[in-house]
Amino acid sequence: MPDIIDQIPILSKRNVQIKNKDKLNDMLLNISKGGLKKLQIVFDFDKTITKQHEDGVPHLSSFAIFSKIPSCLNNEKYQETVRGLRLKYYPIEMDPHIPVKDKIELMEEWWNLSEKAISGLKLTQKDIDEVCLDCKPALREGCKEFFSTLNKAKVPVLVFSAGCGDIVLTILQQSNVFWPNVKVISNFLNFHDDGTITGFKDKPIHVFNKNEYAIKNTDFYNLVEDRNNAIVLGDSLGDASMAQGMEHCQNVLKIGFLYEHIEDALPQYLDTFDIVLVDDQTMDVPRAVFDFIR
Ligand code: TMP
Repeated sequence: MPDIIDQIPILSKRNVQIKNKDKLNDMLLNISKGGLKKLQIVFDFDKTITKQHEDGVPHLSSFAIFSKIPSCLNNEKYQETVRGLRLKYYPIEMDPHIPVKDKIELMEEWWNLSEKAISGLKLTQKDIDEVCLDCKPALREGCKEFFSTLNKAKVPVLVFSAGCGDIVLTILQQSNVFWPNVKVISNFLNFHDDGTITGFKDKPIHVFNKNEYAIKNTDFYNLVEDRNNAIVLGDSLGDASMAQGMEHCQNVLKIGFLYEHIEDALPQYLDTFDIVLVDDQTMDVPRAVFDFIR
């Protein structure tokens, strides 16, 4: 069998970690045989499409950007609540020593409490546009070019985010990457006629239920029914299951971006993702893999 990995030189860089090279080799071979007609790409948003950090300074998540909208920023009760929730739950999300099955219930708690906290706030799309322009996090180097290539190649792209959908969509639009081939599944806000938020439109999507539950019966699912190869990109362990709801997917190549708790988390990331990129703030590896497949 030809050694595909050797044909993609960037995969031998020091920060590119691969546990099972034979499995990756097989998968690359199978996906490239299927070609672009059989391919779909699923991206997480926060810290996957956006950089994890710039010079050590972390980027704001979509929820954090949301909370900077003036009507949220000036609401002390709301600020105190979401700050308290993040302080309690974010370390749990990231802790490599807590098993995923224990994290699920706690993440459900976080998203439900967060939905409760935003209910009753009043804002407009103009507020969302402005806050996104103000705090817009940087997209990974090469992200715009990658999205443009995927659009030209007519490969369906899903941005699957447990963040705030309205912010995610606005950032994608403002960054000129929301091409016609891109769909977003996320927590979109539901508004009352007077502009008051009543909660999320659907049941919350959190970092560990971003899978079959949220993807079935969506436009994207129908669009990719005959595409049985997927590349999945994420920064959280839960992101690796983003294509789980697509039973027809035979080859799912998982690429994980790892930045926090590198030493502790690396073994789990290597077990979960086919390619692990350690502190890599670019789209260079996904683009090289795509260029090989096309
Ligand atoms: P992702 O699926 O796009 O990575 O986004 C989910 C992130 O949002 C996750 O890391 C937790 C974070 N988050 C907040 O910062 N504040 C909140 O209120 C909630 C519910 C999640």
